[in-house]
Amino acid sequence: MKRHALIAGNWKMNGTHQGAVALATAIAKAPPPVAELALCPPFIHIAAVKVALGQSNVALGAQDVTFRADGAYTGDISAAMLADAGCKYVIVGHSERREHHKESDQLVASKASVAIDSGIIPIICVGETLAQREAGQTQQVVEAQIAGSVPANATGQNVVIAYEPVWAIGTGLTATNAQIAEVHGQIRGLLEKRLAAGGDLRIIYGGSVKPENASDILLLEDVDGALVGGASLKADSFLAIANSAKV
Ligand code: PGA
Repeated sequence: MKRHALIAGNWKMNGTHQGAVALATAIAKAPPPVAELALCPPFIHIAAVKVALGQSNVALGAQDVTFRADGAYTGDISAAMLADAGCKYVIVGHSERREHHKESDQLVASKASVAIDSGIIPIICVGETLAQREAGQTQQVVEAQIAGSVPANATGQNVVIAYEPVWAIGTGLTATNAQIAEVHGQIRGLLEKRLAAGGDLRIIYGGSVKPENASDILLLEDVDGALVGGASLKADSFLAIANSAKV
């Protein structure tokens, strides 16, 4: 049985206020796809995107969150603030944060945990580097990331897992359908029994998803949506991907 697909746009550190509003408006005004849509703009554009999304069904998300509550933490944004701003989702443990900010599995788990406590669904990212894949370590790396990054308060309904092979992000290289199916199946195997309502868990794929490859990827049994970077920065390509999801 296929789960309701989530197509989330990760805008990363791109765009002006005006561009963010125009993109969100175009997506919100389009005929709603069958899939659930979410937009994750940079923090500074969240409020404007919220207004642009208006009464549409497009959900709002953020790209990161601190694990701390309110207080003297200059530059940080708390889960309570994201909830207050109308976010339904937050991306945690993206490989760019694991790499550039040295985020550990433990930190990712604590961010996911506070998000859950604030009623926000964390999109917990995992994925191997090219060196790890070539060394035959994919399974072991993903297993360790899942074990370390999925918090104790997670259920199949309050988290989403994103499998994003690091070598496929922003490179134009997409994992083959067989590679995606294998890792998604592995993640499902690890979490289906561990999590309450594990059968409901959505596992989405990210890494150079574009209109040309989305249909095939989204048809795979254990793929419940996509986390889209580059192709989410244009309404046409994001909507084409979204419309490729049949559930
Ligand atoms: P990409 O990014 O679609 O540009 O490869 C995906 C991501 O990093 O979430």
